[in-house]
Amino acid sequence: MHLQSLVLLAAASLARAETHDRHDARQTAPAGPEAWTAAYAKASTALAKMSQSDKINIVTGVGWDKGPCVGNTPAIGSIGYPQLCLQDGPLGVRFGTGSNAFTPGIQAGSTWDVELIRQRGAYIGAEARGCGVHNILGPAVGPMGKHPDGGRNWEGFGADPYLQGVAAAATIEGIQSAGVQSTVKHFIGNEQELNRETMSSTIDDRTIHELYLWPFAEAVRSNVASVMCSYNKVNGTWACENDKILNGLLKNELGFPGYVVSDWNAQHTTNGAALGGMDMTMPGSDYSGKSILWGGQLSQAVSSNQVSKARLDDMAKRILAAWYLLKQDSGFPRINIKASVQGNHKENIRAVARDGIVLLKNSGILPLKKPGRLAVIGSSAVVNPKGANACVDRGCNTGALGMGWGSGTTEYPYFVAPYDAIKTRAQSDGTTVTLQNSDSTSGVQSVASGADAAIVFITANSGEGYITTEGVAGDRPNLDPWHNGNQLVQAVAQASQNVIVVVHSTGPIVLETIQALPGVKAIVWAGLPSQENGNALVDVLYGLVSPSGKLPYTIGKSRNDYGIKVSTGNDNFSEGLYIDYRHFDKENITPRYEFGFGLSYTNFTFSDISITSTAKAGPATGAVAPGGRADLFDTVATVTATITNSGAVLGAEVPQLYLTLPASAPSAPPKQLRGFVKLKLAPGASGTATFNLRRKDLSYWDTRLQNWVVPSGSFGVGVGASSRDIRLTGTLTA
Ligand code: NOJ
Repeated sequence: MHLQSLVLLAAASLARAETHDRHDARQTAPAGPEAWTAAYAKASTALAKMSQSDKINIVTGVGWDKGPCVGNTPAIGSIGYPQLCLQDGPLGVRFGTGSNAFTPGIQAGSTWDVELIRQRGAYIGAEARGCGVHNILGPAVGPMGKHPDGGRNWEGFGADPYLQGVAAAATIEGIQSAGVQSTVKHFIGNEQELNRETMSSTIDDRTIHELYLWPFAEAVRSNVASVMCSYNKVNGTWACENDKILNGLLKNELGFPGYVVSDWNAQHTTNGAALGGMDMTMPGSDYSGKSILWGGQLSQAVSSNQVSKARLDDMAKRILAAWYLLKQDSGFPRINIKASVQGNHKENIRAVARDGIVLLKNSGILPLKKPGRLAVIGSSAVVNPKGANACVDRGCNTGALGMGWGSGTTEYPYFVAPYDAIKTRAQSDGTTVTLQNSDSTSGVQSVASGADAAIVFITANSGEGYITTEGVAGDRPNLDPWHNGNQLVQAVAQASQNVIVVVHSTGPIVLETIQALPGVKAIVWAGLPSQENGNALVDVLYGLVSPSGKLPYTIGKSRNDYGIKVSTGNDNFSEGLYIDYRHFDKENITPRYEFGFGLSYTNFTFSDISITSTAKAGPATGAVAPGGRADLFDTVATVTATITNSGAVLGAEVPQLYLTLPASAPSAPPKQLRGFVKLKLAPGASGTATFNLRRKDLSYWDTRLQNWVVPSGSFGVGVGASSRDIRLTGTLTA
């Protein structure tokens, strides 16, 4: 299939977003392997014209800080191959001045809206292309988020492999529809910032398949151009020279035709990396510009036959094939990271920011109706007084929060803080707004008392470990709000019985103190809304739209409830499959707000579940295609349900399908997400949610057979409004 067809497919699925009856996430079949076959044919022709030094050049970065992008390889004149530009990152063009700061992955995941996520990807891709970026270093699906306090969880889409997989596939298809290579990262087992460059993640075979490899398989199936190997060791061997995971899992089992690029300085040896399956080293030197493991070293290794010529050819061919796959051999813009490329993309940013907001609690105070006086309280209600971009790579927690910190950030082109947007709205309503733009508890009494509503803003922040913010070196040390947020809310709730708590956070916080206050009438989980922070919030607070986000992780009642801790040494992943809701379910722990939870201003009823199935027990038998054995992706069962908006206002519901494997499957989690749909419904209207279950969705990884197996017996099917609010049940048999 050609790129034009891919673009048409993307357009067709965008169009589908307008209809009422919605199918589950993966209706767009990705381009088949034939797109790669054509790209490989061109790559072979080009390869034949390349000298050995050309081949060494195409696989070796030019060195740290030596080019216009965070990663660069030299141009190869003989084949018209450009100086390749690789640039962060997962939410847009890093260091751009004319580009947008898209919403972080976690906010996109929180929308559970595949078409918005696809559009977000397409716009990120369009901006990257406009800046001459050949390869944008995103999306991130590792970390998966096994630790609720993991520093970089917010770069990905949520603590579930299925949700990560669907969102990553849509993002990649979006990015690559613009003719830009996408890199999915970090492969694999990079679940924490602490010791990420020294630790080993020991992950058992079944767990790696069913959790951590899953979204990468979906990414490969969507023809992702490249995969970034991570800093950590996996089962004792560096990820970037790990034959078992790079050659074994990724290239052989998943049939990945693209190239493996190292994380920046994640390469440790010349020959080990080459033989282990890495294809491109970045940035090409260490950060002092000295130690160079490929380049001349690789050349020597090839000359002395320690690395075969065929392996070097394979690396080069993979890189060339990705370039041809995206049709970057003609008409690609020249590199200009500062190009003006924003277009109308902020509409998507506002939509994702807004539809990712999760309403956790509402005892009738929301939506606001022309309040007489509003109190707005908290340092994060206003933009950082030094400017939204004052801190390098967003490495501070001053003022309103839009994203975490680290390499997965961009500069904000503008920033609408909560107070800015509330003030604008209040002016048109004739509402008086009283602001306290600090987190001090002392003045709060006078600001909050007598207000029709007191909106208090709290935050929790995290990021990449090379920056320490207010003592936090990446991973959060606890799940408390920053800046004494609990005390601030307590003080406000003493002065007012009409408190609305708005949380901006990179991940779960423990809400028990806040939850216990009778004055707290609403909790709005506003997540990480980037530059449209205030506008998105006002849309929801005033009911311009009904909130429709659902939690992409579990909010527990205590940190201990999650069962595991960020590791201080190596991590043997002894929790296995039981992370996030899988753990809470297994241990029968009641969370405060479960995975998939979110309220609306309207009500939805679920009815008429229907299940048809042709599923047969047994292992997959198909030939390997990008993503894994082809028959893993065949639909073997279809579940439909009717969803009715039985309330008074327009709204959107996310019916979610959870599957329970039959007892013949060895110790499987009580339930696992295997489908979701977002349905927008007018009051009184009904829609059909259709979930197509693929063979893989019904399978577990059999470590003895080394294959996916559909277990025999009766599967439990649950369709609900969250992981703990199952409204319809049924069974299917294999
Ligand atoms: C290290 C980060 O882990 C990775 O995500 C990023 O793409 C590179 N640095 C380049 O900035």
